[in-house]
Amino acid sequence: MSSELVQRLQAIVGDACVLTSADDTAPYLNDWRGNYLGCASAVVRPASAAEVAAVVKLCAELKVPIVPQGGNTGMVGGSVPDASGTAIVLSLKRMNRIRDIDLANNAMTVEAGCILQAVQHAAQENHRHFPLSLAAEGSCTIGGNLSTNAGGTSVLRYGNARDLVLGIEAVLPDGRIWNGLKALRKDNTGYDLKHLLMGAEGTLGIITAAVLKLYPLPRSTCTALVAVRDPQAAVLLLATIQAALGDRLSGFELMARICLDHVVRHFPATTEPFSAKHAWQVLIELTDTRKDAALEDALGAALEPAFDTGTAIDAVIASSESQAQALWNIREHIPEAEKLQGKSVKHDISMPISRIAEFILRGDAALKAAFPEAQVICFGHVGDGNLHYNLSFPGGAPTAGQTRTANTIVYMLLDELHGSISAEHGLGQMKRDEITRHKPAVELDMMRAIKKALDPQGIMNPGKVL
Ligand code: FAD
Ligand code: MLT
Ligand code: ZN
Repeated sequence: MSSELVQRLQAIVGDACVLTSADDTAPYLNDWRGNYLGCASAVVRPASAAEVAAVVKLCAELKVPIVPQGGNTGMVGGSVPDASGTAIVLSLKRMNRIRDIDLANNAMTVEAGCILQAVQHAAQENHRHFPLSLAAEGSCTIGGNLSTNAGGTSVLRYGNARDLVLGIEAVLPDGRIWNGLKALRKDNTGYDLKHLLMGAEGTLGIITAAVLKLYPLPRSTCTALVAVRDPQAAVLLLATIQAALGDRLSGFELMARICLDHVVRHFPATTEPFSAKHAWQVLIELTDTRKDAALEDALGAALEPAFDTGTAIDAVIASSESQAQALWNIREHIPEAEKLQGKSVKHDISMPISRIAEFILRGDAALKAAFPEAQVICFGHVGDGNLHYNLSFPGGAPTAGQTRTANTIVYMLLDELHGSISAEHGLGQMKRDEITRHKPAVELDMMRAIKKALDPQGIMNPGKVL
């Protein structure tokens, strides 16, 4: 560890905010899934954009790699350093102020280290809705959400994280602060630079603040779990409900039977929603800004033809907030239950909604042929064409060879169906090599040119994305 580096970092953020001992740094060096264990010369915790800028300037001068980190809930190893010990981890968690709420403009300016749930609550206290929602919302940060362009469970109504942003403030790899916090819905003055920083996973700069869009607060909600015949029936039901209820449909989440088995096994407070065990189910959420929107009646009417044709085979419509929460608990505990079950080969993928059923049919068959003993754990955001399509092996953690073969099967099929190998988690370390096999050369060239122009020394989150 370079004592010059540590002393100069301490001079910027204070001694207490430069962590170097093994105990203090450990939580920052391992990812949520436990797949990547890194090493760092220090973990630095600045409290302002000016401090972030000074840290980045120092690192640029000394050519020290920087790994930005928010809540460290990412799924692809983007927020942890490699094992060399040369990098610093720059944690944004002390930057957690809500700087401004402009109700007339339906906008809110927050610092990057704000926990997503705190942002949702602040919006709610002001009778507004911030719609980004995902199971890690109690620990992930806005900076991480924007840097991964997170998705979650309300994308089909409100869009991905990047769609919820009017402006950002960021520190560039040379240490300059870019104040792009204009709260404008229209601004056609050249390239839209904020979109370069969002989804860049910390490889082009550090997001320090953002202006977020706020929406009217939903006053009626209806949550239901509907068992469907098969994935094709889920896609048909999606179209039926969209036709009947338009953008009142805010969530449409598919879950295979095995997901419920895992959740109920590992979280005894959750219970089987139906008396029978159905192979496939979708969690549906409808919302409306009107108070008495009679959403249950509207959903019941929309489901009728689906029952007549056998598309839907069973349904529970929540009759209280606690019943609705119980249904959401099943869905939201899937990632943790899967983790408790053991390591799996994870695929966060997207495809046109119209190809989902074909993908599952062909993917399942190909994986079964290659690995007769393995189980496919399929769930996800069907309304966005985004599946979590994971493979677990009864013998324990998959070997490197099993992972490679499973990836080849899934990603080749996606290429054929014009899909994507990362829908919402990003590339991080996990898909860095895969992406070069699945993106056209011209796109890779453009990405490399942008990286080189903004970060010529290659110090921003090296070893990630490309
Ligand atoms: P981190 O994990 O700390 O970082 C993620 C990436 O962003 C890293 O590359 C890091 O270097 C970079 N980064 C972090 N902060 C900054 C910053 N301020 N500036 C520049 N770069 C930065 N994701 C979804 O999209 N949808 C889901 O439904 C979803 N569900 C999840 C459920 C669970 C239980 C868990 C554990 C994760 C889930 N995730 C989901 C994955 C994860 O991407 C999100 O939790 C979240 O967006 C990551 O935020 P974070 O603050 O934890 O970021
Ligand atoms: C989810 O939708 O629950 C997540 O993206 C997390 C996961 O893929 O495990
Ligand atoms: Zn997801």
